[in-house]
Amino acid sequence: MVTYNVWHVHHDESFWKNPFTFDPTRFLDEHGNLLPPEDEKRQRLLTFGIGKRSCVGEKLARVRIFLALTSLLQNFDLTRDPSEPFPSPDPRTYPCEFFMQPPPYKLQFKPRH
Ligand code: HEM
Repeated sequence: MVTYNVWHVHHDESFWKNPFTFDPTRFLDEHGNLLPPEDEKRQRLLTFGIGKRSCVGEKLARVRIFLALTSLLQNFDLTRDPSEPFPSPDPRTYPCEFFMQPPPYKLQFKPRH
């Protein structure tokens, strides 16, 4: 059995600039276009695994996530609840349990139409 440390690949400070900062623009070129799949940055993004046993549901998951997210953004303005502080976006501050996830926080969904 081969296992690999996805956390390390995704936070390798010798490769990524500011690996603990949420920065989707790191996957864009100077014209704002998504880097091609063969770019090393894309190759090192292992959300769906890698190799022969990588996720067979990747295409379905990508389409469904795109539809769900765009439907939400088309229909709602998402804002933070001013009465509640946002947790830090830095995953190193999250409690280390079975799944690493931020503590609960509140978002307001305001209908756009
Ligand atoms: C955001 C959604 C998803 C993520 C992040 C995800 C991620 C992954 C990862 C990391 C693996 C393991 C790859 C490895 O062992 O190296 C995997 C395997 C797998 N995924 Fe997904 N997955 C997602 C959605 C789905 C969906 C929607 C399906 C089915 C409709 C699916 C079916 C599978 C199957 C069957 C495997 C095992 C493949 C094998 O061992 O040959 N996944 N997935």
